[in-house]
Amino acid sequence: MKVQERIETALDQFLARGESSVAPPRLQEAIRYSVFPGGARVRPQLVLAVAAACGDDAPEVSDAAAVAIEMMHCASLVHDDLPCFDGSELRRGKPSVHAAFGERLAVLGGDALIVSAFDALNQEASAHPTRLVALLNILAQGVGVPSGIIAGQAWECEDHIDLAQYQRAKTGALFAAATMAGAAAAGVAHEPWRELGDKLGEAFQVADDLRDAVSNPEDLGKPVGQDEALGRPNVVAARGIKGAVSYLKELLAEAMASVPACPGEEALRELLMKQAAQFLPRELAQEAA
Ligand code: IPE
Ligand code: IPE
Ligand code: MG
Ligand code: MG
Repeated sequence: MKVQERIETALDQFLARGESSVAPPRLQEAIRYSVFPGGARVRPQLVLAVAAACGDDAPEVSDAAAVAIEMMHCASLVHDDLPCFDGSELRRGKPSVHAAFGERLAVLGGDALIVSAFDALNQEASAHPTRLVALLNILAQGVGVPSGIIAGQAWECEDHIDLAQYQRAKTGALFAAATMAGAAAAGVAHEPWRELGDKLGEAFQVADDLRDAVSNPEDLGKPVGQDEALGRPNVVAARGIKGAVSYLKELLAEAMASVPACPGEEALRELLMKQAAQFLPRELAQEAA
């Protein structure tokens, strides 16, 4: 099965398990709407790529890890779009969840996905208790305080924000969770995989800031110009377009250099380079050459 298909099937199966005639139908609908159709599914692909490079000897555990990371990501987008955060009405080319279902179901649907992410791990990894404990820790760290997504979003509520710390938490932390979860799901030490996720995540957020500055809503499926309009600290404001592009390249080189020794090291590096080449918006393809 192709990786993309593997991810969509696993997400569908895990969501289906939680669906029941006793649950409020509109909540269930909002949850599905948050997950399907997906975006680029960059994070679950990263989980599976690292797991494959480390042997992937328990594919059901890797699937659950990929699902858990993507559910967390989808929840973060639903909450990020709410009027009390970015107030965005468009996500993945369609009305954001609160625009389609109302704020209450967007809050609750996001909450439900966060809980389901832990549940997915619990259900699939219980036959591998050591891996399960590692995965639960990795996910909790990537999402919670002091330096996961929640902390990252909460920096926006402070008067003084350190740009690197803000971006590392709001985006880098879940990428680090993705690389480490891939390793943990395959039963290998996960700490050596943190740096790769950190660097890729930071690079991804630089690319997102560039897209926000130079791309358009038709290509992105979400509004542009948000960082400036909302006064969010961002890499383009700090370094300019050219500076941001060269910083992105630097981060990607550091990411590649940090890939730990593993059986599938070369193939993984190749795959990551291919994916990273798509980070930049087409408006800046020339700059990257
Ligand atoms: C958007 O993430 C939010 C950021 C952290 C930059 P993605 O660009 O991965 O969103 P989808 O999942 O593809 O829609
Ligand atoms: C989103 O950051 C990061 C999280 C959802 C944690 P942004 O607000 O910059 O991302 P987009 O541009 O809305 O996708
Ligand atoms: Mg935001
Ligand atoms: Mg946003």
